[in-house]
Amino acid sequence: MTNDPKSNDIFLRACKGESVSRPPVWMMRQAGRYMPEYRALRAQYGILDMIKNPELAAEVTLQPIHAFPLDAAIIFADILTLLEPMGLQLEFISGKGPVFHNPIRETSDVTALKSIDARRDLGFTLEAIRLTRERLAGKVPLIGFSGAPYTLACYAIEGGGSKDFDQVRAWMYAHPNAWASLMDKLTDAVTVYLLGQIESGAQAVQLFDSWAGSMSQADYRRHAAPWTRRIFETLAREAPGIPRIHFSANGGHLLEAVAEMPVDVLSLDWRVDAKAAIDKLGAHRVYQGNLDPARLLASDAAVIEGVREVKQAFAGAKAHIFNLGHGIIKTTPTDRVRLLIEEARKPIE
Ligand code: CP3
Repeated sequence: MTNDPKSNDIFLRACKGESVSRPPVWMMRQAGRYMPEYRALRAQYGILDMIKNPELAAEVTLQPIHAFPLDAAIIFADILTLLEPMGLQLEFISGKGPVFHNPIRETSDVTALKSIDARRDLGFTLEAIRLTRERLAGKVPLIGFSGAPYTLACYAIEGGGSKDFDQVRAWMYAHPNAWASLMDKLTDAVTVYLLGQIESGAQAVQLFDSWAGSMSQADYRRHAAPWTRRIFETLAREAPGIPRIHFSANGGHLLEAVAEMPVDVLSLDWRVDAKAAIDKLGAHRVYQGNLDPARLLASDAAVIEGVREVKQAFAGAKAHIFNLGHGIIKTTPTDRVRLLIEEARKPIE
């Protein structure tokens, strides 16, 4: 990639901790409803129809790349599609979000979960990755992703969204053996899925642990971290050159446990103080984050101020990948996205 003048590998170089002239920029959920081009397609197709059609998924992945000078693409998919071939019936209900019609209730429901074959069961996303790589033609790298086992377990047990997934932790404490078995099965599925994505052309992978923050650090270490670690260890062994990114939302109290993972990049949510995190975890790491996505709804000045603060705060780290502290909000004006990227791309004084 480096020899092609049209190619941009600043994101991959930052992931590996190489020194770069400016922070690379991408945004979690960058393909989505804040874009008019996305909404136009979405008026014709359901979200799952779009994800399961490789042509459409590739097109949506490329929409933000065509619209903005981003340094990476992320494949258009969803963390929840992995649970369908395991036997959980998924539906996205408008105004309500994702719903599983047969969530895990009894320990026997865990026994009934099927193992997956990524090529057979999630081939639509693997094909979308191949198509997207072809169409990107080296312009920017493509990121693959999955949910972390704990966050997937949250949806599988709760059957949908929840404020803090109390029922999930209750189930975990009540059925420790079935919990371990559920986490084993999710870990195997996530591992084959991510290896399939890498084989199909994903050049870096991110695990989204969106609900990790609902646990104490002690419980996170006992009931979630060992499985997430196993995934990263397998990837490190089987796909050593592919950068591994860990994202946890609301995870300020989990930083030490998360930092023990064999990953290249730690992605922090906006509640975490970047300077304090670097003091605690060390400047020898690569960090990603962590602008509060709400700033994009406020004003141009709020965006510029926030971007400068974030860049300044991470300036002491080995490398910094500029991102939001969580997914972009659907009412975000596209002009503010443009402003964010322009400001983030300026070299740090
Ligand atoms: O980042 C990207 O551009 C890639 C696409 C992507 C989607 N989902 C598409 C999507 C990614 C990375 C995800 C991850 C995801 N999905 C997470 C982890 C990240 C996070 O935000 O914490 C989670 C928890 C989910 C589960 C999920 N998917 C929920 C709770 C919802 C409904 C809530 C909502 O925002 O509507 C979705 C739907 C979804 N996934 C949409 C998109 C673009 C919106 C669906 C639509 O078009 O109506």
